[in-house]
Order: sequence, then C-alpha cells, then structure tokens
Amino acid sequence: MKIIRTVSELLDHVAHLEQNGRSVGLVPTMGALHAGHISLVKRAVSENDAVIVSLFVNPTQFNNPDDLRTYPRDEEADFRLLAEEGVDAVFAPSVAEIYPADGPAPKSDFKLGRVAEVMEGAKRPGHFQGVAQIVNRLFQLVRPKRAYFGEKDFQQIAVIRSMVESEHIDVEIIPCPIKRAADGLALSSRNALLTEAQRAVAPEIHRALADSVELSKDHSVEEIRKTVIDRLNAIDEMEVEYFEIVDGRTLEAIDRWEESPFVVGCITVWCGKVRLIDNICYRS
Ligand code: PAF
Repeated sequence: MKIIRTVSELLDHVAHLEQNGRSVGLVPTMGALHAGHISLVKRAVSENDAVIVSLFVNPTQFNNPDDLRTYPRDEEADFRLLAEEGVDAVFAPSVAEIYPADGPAPKSDFKLGRVAEVMEGAKRPGHFQGVAQIVNRLFQLVRPKRAYFGEKDFQQIAVIRSMVESEHIDVEIIPCPIKRAADGLALSSRNALLTEAQRAVAPEIHRALADSVELSKDHSVEEIRKTVIDRLNAIDEMEVEYFEIVDGRTLEAIDRWEESPFVVGCITVWCGKVRLIDNICYRS
C-alpha cells in the first residue's frame, strides 16, 4: 500500500492508474478509522480495480475550534488497518499541502441548495461549504468512478450529491449503511472521546429512535418527535440539539407521515461535550 503525502505524487499515481485502465474508488475519511470506515473500504475494494483512501482532518469544515483540536487522530493505526484491506494507496496530506498559504483561496461558494441549510447546516455555519470544498478537491485530484460515504452522516450525503450536481462531476456516490456497536451506538470516531459513564448511556440514542419506529405506527410525527426528545433529555449528561423528522430526499421537515414515501429521523445529541449524530428510517 502506497502512502502519498503530496498532491503531485497523488496526481502521478492517479495518472498511472488511468493509463492502465483501472477504475478508481475513493473513500474520503478524516482518519481515526473504525469498523464503519472499514465497511466502506471493503465495499470499495470489491467494486473497483483500485481504491484510494484519504485521511485528512479538514480544518475548513470545523466550525468549533475545540472540536478540531480534540478530533481523534491515530495515523499509524489507520495505516495498519488499511494495509490489511487491499487498498492501493492512502492519501494523507498535511493541511499546508491542501491549503497552501501562498495558493489561491479555496472555493467556498458551492451551490448546495436547501439540503445544506437545514439541521447541521443551520447549527454548524460553514460546515457544509468546508465539506464540499474538500470533497470537491479530492474528486478533482482522484477523478474516482465511485466514492463511498457512511449513512450516519445522512445529510452530508445529500449535500455531496448536490455539490456533484452543481459542479457537473461524473462520479457515482455510494451510500453505505451505518455500522453500530453491539449495544446499538452508531460507530463514530468521536465515540473515543466519551467518558465511561457517557459511553454507557450513549446507546439510548439508537434505542429511543428504534422504539420510535414501532410507535410511529399509531402516533403523529409531532408526538414521536417529542417522545424521543423527552426520553433522551431525561438522561444525565444528554441534551438533544435537534431531532427532525424529514423527507429523506429534500430533508424538509414533515408534519404528517403521509407527506412522503421516504421519511427519516435525524438527530444530534450532546453527550457531555461530545456531539453525536444518528438517524433512523421510518418509511422507505
Ligand atoms: O465524513 C467525513 O469524515 C468528512 O466529512 C469527509 C467526507 C471525509 C470530508 O472531510
């Protein structure tokens, strides 16, 4: 497995793959890899001739400096995990390599539409422009046939699709199912930041969502929203930032179940100082 640190090495590597007619799958990550990332990598390896995984904690998508500072990093462990998966190359650049101080200001006015304005878009100003910026850059450099993203970040996938459409990029976006710990907690690099007590209660997020799917058969959208929020807010150290029940395509909140054939509940919960996100499908 090749470890690539610079843009020019990456371009050479991609040119070589293209000359050999090899289809490329890209798995963009911010490192601190867990079984969720590895499931994306395995799928990419099974569907493409060559797979490139990027490891880059992208500063422009962090609206909170503490979150950027404390974001877990373990490059050596990431390399070891990826080497076992048959990945062709890892692109692990420095911040200066991606955003050189003397380079042009990176594009930050992507047309992302309404899907980038609701939920995470409203709570984390600038976050999705930062995501669009780095993912667009990776797409320009790697020119992948397919790119893989985890459905835990359900809204991120919608925003990336929107960026791909507005920038006319020829790439297939492949959403991959959420991976969960045995107790139901959605795997996330940020889980490593939870205290033991917080980790013990964190699975309640998925339990509350899963129970609410059953309840949704005979309760209104608003009743379900309130039940989930109240149940989680009653737990020590937990505070729901938002829980929205939305049309899974437009991400607009719905009032009645019949409004959409595809309904998803998207939640963000503070568990102490750790921000956890999750989602659940009500109708599809
Ligand atoms: O989902 C993530 O880890 C990041 O937002 C991504 C897509 C790698 C862009 O930095």
